Amino acid sequence: MTHVHVPGVRELIPEHEIRARVLSLAERIDEDYSEVGELLLLGVLRGSYIFIADLSRALSIDRRVDFIALSSYEREEQRSGVRLIMDARVPIEGRHVLVVEDILDTGGTLTYLLDLLAARHPASIRSCVLVRKPEQKRQVEADYVGFEIPDTWVVGYGLDYDDRFRALPFIGTVDPDALD
Ligand code: PRP
Repeated sequence: MTHVHVPGVRELIPEHEIRARVLSLAERIDEDYSEVGELLLLGVLRGSYIFIADLSRALSIDRRVDFIALSSYEREEQRSGVRLIMDARVPIEGRHVLVVEDILDTGGTLTYLLDLLAARHPASIRSCVLVRKPEQKRQVEADYVGFEIPDTWVVGYGLDYDDRFRALPFIGTVDPDALD
């Protein structure tokens, strides 16, 4: 395996640990949805694109993949802070939906999305996040969590810093002062 060294990025979760964790999450999801006809994996762009690629291929149950794109903006009073940029193509009504996210931090994005989707009457709705930050006041929790991480900025495996480093094979912490 090639070792990737990137100035300003320190490895937190190596590639082999991510691979193993994705497989174990897929096993649990396979079991939990074994009685369900078909699962809709709904990836949240952009951060989830690598995670959902690997997770969807590790599953054995019938599944389809679709995407939704959200963007956060500066919070103003009484505003949710999240905007829908691109909607799913597949109708949500009557489907078993698993939202796939890269990171759960404040939970603002996931709360917005679960509310939006619940109004469309899915058969069921759950969420799966790759990494979760510590947060006491979070309003919403994920059903499946890959890794607990410290309260620091992480990049790689889909996660970015100013749109950089998404394609790194591992998850790392970034030191903005040490970047090229
Ligand atoms: C990131 C991430 C989640 C959200 C989590 O999105 O992908 O959607 O923040 O944070 P929260 O729990 O505090 O809401 P970002 O706006 O960075 O977009 P990206 O996925 O395109 O990188």
